Amino acid sequence: MPLLRERIYTIEDIYALPEGERAELIDGHIYYMAPPNTMHQRISSILSRKIGNYIDSNKGKCEVFAAPFAVYLDELDRLNAMPPVQHQDTGKVMLNVALPKGRLGDKVYNLLAGIGYGCPEDYNATRKLVVENPAAGIRYFLVKPSDVAIYVEHGAADVGIVGKDILTEAAADVYELLDTGLGRCRMCVAAPAGYRDDPSRPVRVATKFVNIAKRYYASMGRDIDIIKLNGSIELAPILGLSDVIVDIVETGTTLRENGLQVVTEFMPISARFIANKASYQFKHRQMDTMLEKLRDTLHKQEEEK
Ligand code: PRP
Repeated sequence: MPLLRERIYTIEDIYALPEGERAELIDGHIYYMAPPNTMHQRISSILSRKIGNYIDSNKGKCEVFAAPFAVYLDELDRLNAMPPVQHQDTGKVMLNVALPKGRLGDKVYNLLAGIGYGCPEDYNATRKLVVENPAAGIRYFLVKPSDVAIYVEHGAADVGIVGKDILTEAAADVYELLDTGLGRCRMCVAAPAGYRDDPSRPVRVATKFVNIAKRYYASMGRDIDIIKLNGSIELAPILGLSDVIVDIVETGTTLRENGLQVVTEFMPISARFIANKASYQFKHRQMDTMLEKLRDTLHKQEEEK
């Protein structure tokens, strides 16, 4: 509808909501509420493409919305603005996966490929950042591990695999659907051998995980000065930049080879399967199917150990 300068439009005007349907701004989201029986018609008309097709292909059966129902309109608009989820050739709903580049991502990809979610193209053999298999309804985005939660939280990807360390640090508003048990390590405070805390001054802490470190020391009631680094954290105490580090320890080799040792372990870490909250409403069948198969495979792997 054309917006005229003379008139102040309400959310109801903008979305042309008929009698009985309401929209409110709650926590920065446009929250849409409809009475029973308007669900299918209304959502289909708002979302002619992405969500609409999904509901049509399910013959209007959309149990996620018990009537009366409410939904974030702006979330739906955002999803609608994204490329269509249905692939022209197969008509399959595509599940978009944010895969962390590197060892963990490769491990997860191999597991998923083993249960029918592989792609014909080897992403490691190219510089491509998107690979897909429309027949299997799967599309992978190759992203920096520290960005997985961002892609998923903002809905650019439906699901993703991310370390609990990164997830906790980002405090991402996503569903955590599965602990894969992969990439196990722990969050630690480490320091040069013989380190003694000096309670008369704040501890100087070097870390990539600023929020985690702050929370940990706050829980101890200990003042700190944070030095945010992006990698090679172990160098900081060696060069006198910090007293201690807060970092992940897997094998302990990096600490050992740099003359550092663990002071405290305070958080077990492993890779989690996460989902965007809005996407989960619309693609929960696809996600649940994938998760069930993934869980079985992980379980079998565990048994074989
Ligand atoms: C991580 C972490 C430690 C190391 C621990 O670094 O920051 O440095 O792994 O592993 P370990 O206990 O098996 O030695 P990463 O390899 O991610 O590189 P970074 O220094 O760039 O953070």
